[in-house]
Amino acid sequence: MAGQIETVMQESRVFAPPEAFMRQATISGMAQYQALCDEAGRDHDGFWSRLAREQVLWHKPFTRGLDDSQAPFYKWFEDGELNVSHNCLDRHLGTPVENKVAIRFEADDGALTEVTYRDLYHQVCRFANGLKALGCRQGDRVIIYMPMSVEGIVAMQACARLGLIHSVVFGGFSAKSLQERIQDAGAAWVICADEQVRGGRHIPLKPAVDEAFTLGGCESVQRVVVYQRTGAAMDMHAGRDITWSQVIDGQPDHCEPQWVGAEHPLFILYTSGSTGKPKGVQHSSAGYILHAMLTMKWTFDIKPEDIFWCTADIGWVTGHTYIAYGPLACGATQIVFEGVPTYPDAGRFWRMIARHKATIFYTAPTAIRALIKACDTVESTHPRHFDLSSLRLLGSVGEPINPEAWMWYYNQVGGARCPIVDTFWQTETGGHMITPLPGATPLVPGSCTLPLPGIAAAIVDEAANDLPNGQGGILVVKKPWPSMIRTIWGDPERFRKSYFPDELKGYYLAGDGAVRNRVTGYFTITGRIDDVLNVSGHRMGTMEIESALVANPLVAEAAVVGRPDDLTGEAIAAFVVLKQARPVGDDARRIANDLRNWVAHEIGPIAKPKDIRFGDNLPKTRSGKIMRRLLRAIARGEAITQDVSTLENPAILDQLKQTL
Ligand code: WTA
Repeated sequence: MAGQIETVMQESRVFAPPEAFMRQATISGMAQYQALCDEAGRDHDGFWSRLAREQVLWHKPFTRGLDDSQAPFYKWFEDGELNVSHNCLDRHLGTPVENKVAIRFEADDGALTEVTYRDLYHQVCRFANGLKALGCRQGDRVIIYMPMSVEGIVAMQACARLGLIHSVVFGGFSAKSLQERIQDAGAAWVICADEQVRGGRHIPLKPAVDEAFTLGGCESVQRVVVYQRTGAAMDMHAGRDITWSQVIDGQPDHCEPQWVGAEHPLFILYTSGSTGKPKGVQHSSAGYILHAMLTMKWTFDIKPEDIFWCTADIGWVTGHTYIAYGPLACGATQIVFEGVPTYPDAGRFWRMIARHKATIFYTAPTAIRALIKACDTVESTHPRHFDLSSLRLLGSVGEPINPEAWMWYYNQVGGARCPIVDTFWQTETGGHMITPLPGATPLVPGSCTLPLPGIAAAIVDEAANDLPNGQGGILVVKKPWPSMIRTIWGDPERFRKSYFPDELKGYYLAGDGAVRNRVTGYFTITGRIDDVLNVSGHRMGTMEIESALVANPLVAEAAVVGRPDDLTGEAIAAFVVLKQARPVGDDARRIANDLRNWVAHEIGPIAKPKDIRFGDNLPKTRSGKIMRRLLRAIARGEAITQDVSTLENPAILDQLKQTL
């Protein structure tokens, strides 16, 4: 990582926006960017209020922008009323967008479904009416555990329409993770699918819901709605389970939106933190949809003729803002993909771009790195064999993109003609924070460049003092912005402590380190400064994985750290002490494998440790504290240069180095 950042800081390649792109761009040239920043600088509240009036459709206009009287529990546009689904669908009725394709859904096997804005409106209304008939009421929490599908988006939009608060759980999470989220949210409704289909395989979802109920604590749930994706046989619990088709059967295809206050929670999305269980990040309605729309226009330069494709899953925040909400509110045509980039072969993304004539493509560095590697082995999957001339803009999200991957993406996928927007943001920020603007910002590989207008990002030390360019520090946002996290569901104190610690004088703490270039002031994200790992762009708390490991009857103690990985960015390395004697050879391999599967069952396959090392003990100080920095060095295969004189048991280091 350190080497990587050095490379970025010394990066001298600069890519100015192409003339043609600049001419037609929503934000054209740095002068326009600067003018917006200046406007926000002069009157932060007035700037955001102007945009909220211009972009959002209000049922009742707001009279006041920011309310900071309960900081850090900020409110924006509070006395305004709106409905987010109305902002995404109804606004297009009676306009030329009504008959435009909203979603081109490509199934795992390549089958296509096209849904126009009018169709989508009717589907959402019918499903919303069905939910209402079941008894769903404003403010109820709804867990959505669904694959990438039109129905998944319909479910989210129907919740928004009724003022229900959805919490989408990624289909790769286990029954236990699902149960924890149902319980924490106090969900009254669960919407799931029978199965998901990915890479030619059928992966059951409904059985995980049943298992979550068996685990207990799901008494708040009244009904489970099952969308039959494959029609697989399943257990239906009488009185509890009902199929999607039963819910929509006979329902009218108009449904009045439920008007809600600007601050009404649109959704909760669970994400990993440095301590304890995943936290339910709560977002607002108005501020959130405002930022989703603005960034579609500013960062993606979305235009009526674009074919937009974001490859994220609706289970993550990227799939919320840049699939389920942003593109729809902007009346864009988007591609929604059920499958995986490597099936039937690693040319799938490129084939799909050519097939759909995608103009904007937004994916994660992990996917790019995997596809670079794949086409090295199977030449026919190289992007050069596909017609990618429709592309005009590329995007990256979720983790730092290394300059080599950036250059490959730029040249091989973008034909050296498409700007790349390296978008830094988080579940908590609701939308992009630091990112190039494609018609304005000169690009530097590996840098997310500059904050959006109205986003007061800065780098400070531990006492909140500003640091000069060139000096690495803590990334903060100094002023509230409309799409920011409002609280952690059910735990306002944790919200305050996690994001607005006293030392930081009221600044928002992102949890990442960053450094600005001495000359350009461009930001480079240097990675998390807490115990959160980023594996293939997925956020994982080391504590969560440790808790899962120690829940296994064989395990006495466990410590988890991250180490760099060429493909996944970071990889999970676990150090485990068993209750029995330290296993070696085949025994060690077998138990390590069992533990990996155990973690997959406890959390989900994405949390499986890549390395597991067994020791008689862990390196501890005399007061019994595990010295994680030593474990990090061992996991990376680095020499231990730190002072180990405070260690209770220095000999353990050699043992841990040897066992893998
Ligand atoms: C990391 C995903 C570098 C960062 C939208 C952040 C990035 C965490 C970038 C949030 C980027 C995201 N460059 N790092 N362009 N984008 N990150 O909540 O560590 O799943 O804090 O949101 O991903 O992950 P989350």
